[in-house]
Amino acid sequence: MSKENEKKGQKMWGGRFATLPSDALQAINASIGIDQKMWREDIDGSLAHSNMLAKTGVISNEDRDAIHSGLKKITHKIENNEFDFSVELEDIHLNIEARLTEDIGEAGKRLHTGRSRNDQVANDFKLWTRRALTSTIEQLRMLQKTLVNRAETEVQTIMPGFTHLQTAQPVSLGHHLLAYVEMLARDIKRLENAHENAGECVLGSSALAGTPYPIDREMTAKELGFNGPNANSMDGVGSRDFALEALAAISIACVNLSRLADEIVLWTSAQFGFARLSDDWSTGSSIMPQKRNPDAAELIRAKAARIGSNYQALLMILKALPLTYSKDLQEDKSLTFGAFEDFWLCITSTIGMMEKITFKRDNMRKAAALGYSTATDLADWLVRTHQIPFREAHHIVGAVVKYAEDNNIGELCDMPLQAMQQIDKRINQDAINLLSVEASVNSRVSYGGTTPKNVLAQVQKWKEKLANV
Ligand code: ARG
Repeated sequence: MSKENEKKGQKMWGGRFATLPSDALQAINASIGIDQKMWREDIDGSLAHSNMLAKTGVISNEDRDAIHSGLKKITHKIENNEFDFSVELEDIHLNIEARLTEDIGEAGKRLHTGRSRNDQVANDFKLWTRRALTSTIEQLRMLQKTLVNRAETEVQTIMPGFTHLQTAQPVSLGHHLLAYVEMLARDIKRLENAHENAGECVLGSSALAGTPYPIDREMTAKELGFNGPNANSMDGVGSRDFALEALAAISIACVNLSRLADEIVLWTSAQFGFARLSDDWSTGSSIMPQKRNPDAAELIRAKAARIGSNYQALLMILKALPLTYSKDLQEDKSLTFGAFEDFWLCITSTIGMMEKITFKRDNMRKAAALGYSTATDLADWLVRTHQIPFREAHHIVGAVVKYAEDNNIGELCDMPLQAMQQIDKRINQDAINLLSVEASVNSRVSYGGTTPKNVLAQVQKWKEKLANV
C-alpha cells in the first residue's frame, strides 16, 4: 500500500483505529474490482443527493456547485480510463468520495451528509439493476423480432414436431420458431415485473434508521427515475430481493434460450441435418477438417447453468441474514453483474445464429414423414367420419401402423387401400388422402394450432407488436 493511499484509506473511516487493516482483511474486504462497474450510478446518486441537500438547505448552493463540477471531472476521468481506482479505498463509493474531496476540498466532505454507504450501495446497485433490466428487455425484443422474421419465411416449411424427441406430428417450422417468441414474451413480463419491484429509491434511508436532516426523499427518487422513496429505511438498506428477482427472471429466460440453443446443436448435426450455421457462427476442429461446431449454442446451454447458480448463490446469501446490512451483501454484485453480462452474450449470440442459420427444408420435410407421423390423423378421420370413439380409433390405427412397419411401408399415405381395409373396412381413399404431412399440418386449425393460416396470423400479430423495436 502506498503511503498516500494508506492515509486516504484511514481518513475515510479510520478515526478510532490505531493500525491499518491487515493485508488479508483488505483483500477479502475490497470490492472495487467489481463495484467500479457501477461508477455511473454512484455519481448519478451523488448528483441527485447533493441537489436535494442544497434544495432543503442542508448544504449551500456553492457547495453543491463545487460537488457537481468535481463529479463531472471525475466522470470525464473514468470515461477516459484516467481514474486511478485504489484498493485501499475499498469500494467505488469511497474511491469517488475521496477523489472528490481531494479535488474540491471542504465541499466534498459535506456530500455524505444524511446518507451512508449502506443506502448508497443499495441504491447504486438498484439503479444499475434497473438499467440492466431495461437494456435486457430491449435486447430480448430484438431477438423476438429476429425469430418472427425467420418464422415468416418458414410458415410453409414442414418439419417433425417431437415429444420425447421421438417423431410426434408434423408441424410448421414457423410455428416452432414462434413458440420461442411466446416464451420470450413471458420472460420480458418477468423482467418488467422485476423492474417495477425495484422501483423504490433507497437513498436517504441512511445507515438504517433514517436521518435527522430535513431531506426531501421524493425529490431524490424523482431525479433518479424511481417511482418514489421506500417507506421503511431498514427494508431499504437490508433488502436485495430486487436483485434476486432480476436473477430469477434472467435465469428462466436463459433456460428458455438454452432450449433453442440445444435445438441448434441437434438440428446442425449430420444425423438431423435440419440446419446449417453460417461460417461466422461455426467453429472448426484442430484435427477433423470436416467439423463445423456450434460452440456458441453449446456455451449458451452452459451459461444457463451459471446464471441459475448465481441466482442460487444470492438466494443462499440472503437466507437467514438478520436485518439490516451485513457485509455478506457485498457479494450480490459480482453475482448479478456476471449473470447479466453472460446473459447479454447469450442473447447476442442467439440473434447472430438465428439471423443467418440456413434451414434445410427438404431434409425437414422428409424427416416429418418418418415414424408414421400422421397416424393420429387417421384416428381423427375415423372419429369424425364414422363417430368411432377415439380410444377405439386409436386401436385400429395401431394395427395399421404395425402392418406398415412389418411391410416396410415408409409413410401411411403410401399404404395400399386394400391393406387398410383388411384392418378396418370403413377406411377409404378420402382417409388416405389426409395422411400426407401437408394435409396433416393444414388440418390443425384449432386456435394455437400449426396450420399455416394460423401461423401466418400469428406472424402478423407479432410484427405489429414489434413494429417499433
Ligand atoms: N462495498 C460495500 C458493499 O458493496 C458498501 C457498503 C459498505 N457498508 C458498510 N457498512 N461497510 O456492500
